[in-house]
Amino acid sequence: MNLLIPRTPDPSLLFTNRRAFLRAFGLGAAGAAVPSALADQLALTPPQTEGPFYPDQLPIDTDNDLLRLNEAEKAAIGEVTYLSGRVLTPAGDPVRDVVVEIWQCDATGVYLHSGTGGDKAKRDAGFQGFGRCVTGVNGEYFFRTIKPVPYTGRTPHIHVAVKRRGLPRWTTQCYIKGHPQNEGDFLWKGLGDAAARDLVTVEFAPIPNGKAGELTATFNMVPGLTPNE
Ligand SMILES: [Fe+2]
Repeated sequence: MNLLIPRTPDPSLLFTNRRAFLRAFGLGAAGAAVPSALADQLALTPPQTEGPFYPDQLPIDTDNDLLRLNEAEKAAIGEVTYLSGRVLTPAGDPVRDVVVEIWQCDATGVYLHSGTGGDKAKRDAGFQGFGRCVTGVNGEYFFRTIKPVPYTGRTPHIHVAVKRRGLPRWTTQCYIKGHPQNEGDFLWKGLGDAAARDLVTVEFAPIPNGKAGELTATFNMVPGLTPNE
């Protein structure tokens, strides 16, 4: 199933105008105080290693609903999460028509990779493990997936890539705000300072009035772009 309509619209998706978006995020005031073209620049999202588990064999179903595989009888195991956000230029303009990819281990800690850790025999056959979404006119993307779980040596994270024509795949990782294992994670700690970590660490919050404990997470990205984007 391809998800075309998000269950819970991300407020940032409502803003098509760059200054309105910056104002909504409390960034406009700084821009007004400093009459510089650079004052409104958004911080670049820190890139992070792709890691060893980008699928070595992509699933047949690569849509943006990771909870339903073509032909699978069961839905995936895990905490249902609506992950959405926008891809933006440093100036706050949307980056449309680029491919966002995510991949993550299933609820048992197994990736869609032949070299994955965990017990492959226990892999959740109902979880897609990988998905793609093309950004819309406002740079928006949406996925339905599970809240990431820890696996040996790592705090929970979702791998995210942005693919832009003519450029190498840009990758980062999205973390759960407040997760107790973040502090012990070498890649999360390696982000340097709290400001950098904040850019890739987001709330996984219950959807108001959600019937089944569904979560929502908003992950906006500023990957650093070429001038024509
Ligand atoms: Fe990973």
